Amino acid sequence: MKEKISELIYEALSSITKDTGITKEDVMEYIEIPPQKEMGDMAFPCFRLAKALRMAPPAIAEKLCDLIPAKDFLKNVGTSGGYLNFFINKEALASGILSRLQEKKEYGTSDVGKGQTICIDYSSPNVAKNFHVGHLRTTTIGNALYHIFKKQGYDVVRINYLGDWGTQFGKLIVAYKKWGSEELVKEKGIEELMSLYVRFHEEAETDPSLEDEARSWFAKMEQNDQEALSIWQWFLDISLKEFMRIYDILGVSFDSYNGESFYNDKMAPAIEELKEKGLLKEDNGAQIVDLSDYDMPPCLVLKKDGSTLYATRDIAAAIYRKKTYDFTKCIYVTGLEQKLHFSQWFKVIELMGYDWYKGLVHVPYGMVSLPGGKMSSRKGQVIFAEDILKEAIDKTADIIEEKNPTLPHKEEVAKAVGVGAVVFSNLYTQRIKDVVFDWDKLLSFDGETGPYVQYTHARCCSIISKSGDAPATPIPSALSDDPALDLMKELDRYEEVIKDAADKYEPSIVARYSMAVAQAFNKFYHEDQILTEETDVKGSRLFLTKVTEEILRDSLAVLGLEAPEQM
Ligand code: ARG
Repeated sequence: MKEKISELIYEALSSITKDTGITKEDVMEYIEIPPQKEMGDMAFPCFRLAKALRMAPPAIAEKLCDLIPAKDFLKNVGTSGGYLNFFINKEALASGILSRLQEKKEYGTSDVGKGQTICIDYSSPNVAKNFHVGHLRTTTIGNALYHIFKKQGYDVVRINYLGDWGTQFGKLIVAYKKWGSEELVKEKGIEELMSLYVRFHEEAETDPSLEDEARSWFAKMEQNDQEALSIWQWFLDISLKEFMRIYDILGVSFDSYNGESFYNDKMAPAIEELKEKGLLKEDNGAQIVDLSDYDMPPCLVLKKDGSTLYATRDIAAAIYRKKTYDFTKCIYVTGLEQKLHFSQWFKVIELMGYDWYKGLVHVPYGMVSLPGGKMSSRKGQVIFAEDILKEAIDKTADIIEEKNPTLPHKEEVAKAVGVGAVVFSNLYTQRIKDVVFDWDKLLSFDGETGPYVQYTHARCCSIISKSGDAPATPIPSALSDDPALDLMKELDRYEEVIKDAADKYEPSIVARYSMAVAQAFNKFYHEDQILTEETDVKGSRLFLTKVTEEILRDSLAVLGLEAPEQM
């Protein structure tokens, strides 16, 4: 509609003068949605034309108004001051949207990504450390991006780049050998490994020789020492088991679990290549890539003792992924604090002469905290993501018990809604912003929450099931009232929303959209009786209910939420 209207304006404008310097696209951009209904459905401000036409804006509006021909989709064109106001024929609008909604097979899909591959590196928790709420954020954002790109037709490779290599394992082995017990590690898992790690740091303050011991154990790992590797493998297995439990609760999975250790034998060739390309420089015995020309500290590639670093592994992994998957884009979802790390090694890839560095994308997110302060694993003030998810499920179960004790499949619903609440609150905020967990807000059924959207979806299901076999065939004249039209405009936006979310790597756009659809539906539901006697009206409203149900279910799935049919 906007396009059609801008065409009319542009033609009218061109008939006055050819050289306004304003394009059809500009016109489209200037069009506004007026704040009040009396000013029409769309408005065109004439102020910017004043100079080119050497006329006052109200006179321009009048002149353009006279020049715009009658069209079936326009009920009326008028002016108010310097604005040209368009009143749309609602039935025509409804009919245009309806035909699109009826035509589309799978809402929100497109094939812009056909034949292209995107790798997403997300979640990627560190072995022997807790899966904290920050990891919950990368996991939910990454999972949503996976679904978003899938809907655009891309092949998407989900990569869990486990933090399973590095000097911290040397420390852990020392601590375990000195103070650990097999039983306790078996019993308490990651929690025990973490306290060993904390103990290491405490003791190392008074006994610095521990640091040397740790370094030498890590060196042994890098040299394939069997004892070192078997302890490491054990820690890895324990951690993976705990991570899998969380992925299971969240319903997420991965195509590859190749973590940092997978690149052990792939770093030497990468380092060799850096050397050949003349990029390595010695600095106090260490090997670095100088990035001072780019206003960045150097990228550390090899330590003095010859051991590799986080950046070394990322460089090797990127080269491997390009060879293996031939990605168009490789996306990394991590906390904002890793921004410099990614800028540095992306630059190194560019300096290596690889044009595909352009496809490397860092997608950062803000901090997560609980009311009462931030979390720090150093201070032992640890919050496990699993505990939060379980608490959310329990709290939801209590609410169900109180409000709807006879609900079938109570436990499954409690899980879907409790987990959904946490996931949704993670995604509803723009990813770069910090999030604070607030239990009451999170679980409320009438705020801007996951449960609210899920509840609206369940409402659609209930209406559909009450309608029996009534046909859901729409006619435009039955849907040209405001609540119906407002809902239809939202439903019509889904594909555009997915595109916008993909372009900005921003799942919150989809979360906000699902909320807008739910709100528009509830308004429609309260103002327009859906299951009425009039067959045409009922069939039309039922059709909208079905499309709403589908789009809500699908957008929730994109975000990683289930959509129970009853709540
Ligand atoms: N393991 C890291 C962490 O927990 C995240 C890894 C991100 N991916 C990467 N390729 N560097 O902070």
